[in-house]
Amino acid sequence: MSKNDFILKAEGLHKSYRMGTNEVRVLKGVNLNVRKGEFVAIIGASGSGKSTLLHILGALDKPTRGVVRFEKRDLSRIGSGELNRFRNKMVGFVFQFYHLLDELSVLENVFLPAMTSRSIAGWLVCRRQAKNRAKELLAQLGLAERAKHKPYQLSGGERQRVAIGRALMNEPKLLLADEPTGNLDSATGNGILEVLEKLNRAGQTIVMVTHDERIARKAERIVTLVDGKIEHKNSGSL
Ligand SMILES: Nc1ncnc2c1ncn2[C@@H]1O[C@H](COP(=O)(O)OP(=O)(O)O)[C@@H](O)[C@H]1O
Ligand SMILES: [Mg+2]
Repeated sequence: MSKNDFILKAEGLHKSYRMGTNEVRVLKGVNLNVRKGEFVAIIGASGSGKSTLLHILGALDKPTRGVVRFEKRDLSRIGSGELNRFRNKMVGFVFQFYHLLDELSVLENVFLPAMTSRSIAGWLVCRRQAKNRAKELLAQLGLAERAKHKPYQLSGGERQRVAIGRALMNEPKLLLADEPTGNLDSATGNGILEVLEKLNRAGQTIVMVTHDERIARKAERIVTLVDGKIEHKNSGSL
């Protein structure tokens, strides 16, 4: 794998929301390239459009204008059914508020993405393997003893590690994290950042958004979202 291979190329992204008769322009021409194996932080003030941008990069939302290419595939040309499969397989999401399902155990939360990408018959064939992978992920994340617990029985930091396990379940090429430490105290947040750094050292491509400069500095490259556009810093030729 060459470091010069781009996993993601976003060009001229615009996003506007219509609020009654007003149009709120959030993104006004964002250009961003992400190489395989990079750990990029997108920093910006609250309300600057970081979540909007991350959702578009992960095909959870569509730009009003502009193109996102994921390994050269134009996401706007993928139909909605295939887009769900694409997202499930290629992209892992970690959110500020974890979004775990409280009715399911920790282990079930982690292997859920393997289930939802398959038919019932397909799931029956691979469930043992999927459960083993989920157990391995929990062990790597220091949560082996928590597999049978419910999310509400865990601390915030533990819940976020479960969410990271779930995001990694299908071995996504891209991990997107939206303020992953935003709900945690700083020591616990640092633990989560260490998990992300370790994943990145093992080759995982990560794009993380945060409003906190101190957190952004953990990434190898920081880009700043200002007035709907990206201001590149420490970015060499990009
Ligand atoms: N679905 C939506 N409808 C209308 N406005 C929205 C919607 N989502 C986000 N916005 C607006 O877009 C702006 C950027 O939001 P967001 O991307 O969540 O910013 P950030 O994550 O940087 O805090 C905000 O002004 C927000 O109110
Ligand atoms: Mg946000």
